Amino acid sequence: MKTTIAQAANYEEQTVTIGAWLTNKRSSGKISFLQLRDGTGFMQAVVAKNDVSENTFQLAKNMHQESSFYITGKIVEDKRSPLGYEMQVENIELIHEANDYPITPKEHGIEFLMDHRHLWLRSKRQHAIMKIRNEIIRATYQFFNDNGYVKIDPPILTASSAEGTTELFHTKYFDEEAYLSQSGQLYLEAAALAFGKVFSFGPTFRAEKSKTRRHLIEFWMIEPEMAFVDHDESLEIQENYVSFIAQSVLKNCQLELAALHRDISKLEQIKAPFPRISYDEAINLLKEKGFSDIEWGEDFGAPHETAIADHFDKPVFITNYPADIKAFYMKPHPDHPEVVLCADLIAPEGYGEIIGGSQRIDDLELMKERYEQHGLTGEAYEWYLDLQKYGNVPHSGFGLGLERTVAWIAGIDHVRETIPFPRLLNRLYP
Ligand code: 4AD
Ligand code: MG
Repeated sequence: MKTTIAQAANYEEQTVTIGAWLTNKRSSGKISFLQLRDGTGFMQAVVAKNDVSENTFQLAKNMHQESSFYITGKIVEDKRSPLGYEMQVENIELIHEANDYPITPKEHGIEFLMDHRHLWLRSKRQHAIMKIRNEIIRATYQFFNDNGYVKIDPPILTASSAEGTTELFHTKYFDEEAYLSQSGQLYLEAAALAFGKVFSFGPTFRAEKSKTRRHLIEFWMIEPEMAFVDHDESLEIQENYVSFIAQSVLKNCQLELAALHRDISKLEQIKAPFPRISYDEAINLLKEKGFSDIEWGEDFGAPHETAIADHFDKPVFITNYPADIKAFYMKPHPDHPEVVLCADLIAPEGYGEIIGGSQRIDDLELMKERYEQHGLTGEAYEWYLDLQKYGNVPHSGFGLGLERTVAWIAGIDHVRETIPFPRLLNRLYP
């Protein structure tokens, strides 16, 4: 019977065959312990001299890391291993003998590992991170599908920009100028007015000259957009969504969280509702915490966000930022037009902003004013004004950065490990 490591528990005391690679090995005179991986998981296989042919015993003893083979044996309980099972080997059929695999079980420097990202992905740590990423994506589709959202795919090549023009990747679109999308939002607003509740999941690009543990040049964003939903209602959707993904990972990624030594008590607290503080309150809190030179009107940096987040044990919404430091499409607060109906969701434990969202402007004259102020001229933005002209309604949306969310939930210091092939300021390889 051919099976996988993930399915092995279903075959206790039965003989199965698994296609696998060798990750590590320990041998003594009459016994070898092989550490296997097969893509679905990690398992130990025990090769005892008396149970196998001489050929298989020698093969096991001399095989190098990352050699591939079909391995056959009996699945038996092993309480000491995280998986709970191991294999008592009966036969090994070599597929490919690898030699001199560059990533050995010893420690390697980060640049070396990044240069070998195509191989590094095979490690137990990277496996755990990517499985958690996958679970967050799965839970995202479940959450929005269960709540009546339609998935809409905005274009990647665009003529307009949603988040300012300074961090755009330019490219030629035949004879026209085009950009790689920074956010699908403007298109999702059009879609929300056509389908009610929509969401997208796709890559976005920011030519940001930031070299921090939170910044990627290419990252993936989940962007929901909802018609007839105001700012407060949007915050409820956000906290329910983030709680749902945290609880889904807790439930479905126990082995992975354990492999990463994640403190799961911190994740167990991630249940809606989340605290909310206004930008004004955040300024006061920062002053109390010793950031004496922060002034109203300034944007927050990573140290400010961390100081605010440390005040709470759940993600915290910072609401109503000054209009001047936020995007052109945000709706002004009806009583305080100097601030906008927006919120950033700051993750706990120093992981920073994971969501940016707002209620959108729903007024043609005001939008025209914003176009003037932000220099949004030309044909590229004309279609977006149509949304204001024909049956506009209150609508809100937000964008969750997948990699920062993975970093937080998996407890990984740097976003470079949360995407299969990271694009960083100085890295386009592999
Ligand atoms: O706050 P941002 O810029 O918001 C938008 O793009 C809105 N148009 C979204 C919307 O309302 N539909 O980005 C949203 C999130 C951030 O909170 C952060 O998690 C992530 O995207 N993000 C990045 N992640 C990794 N690397 C970068 N350079 C990122 N820039 C933003
Ligand atoms: Mg933001």
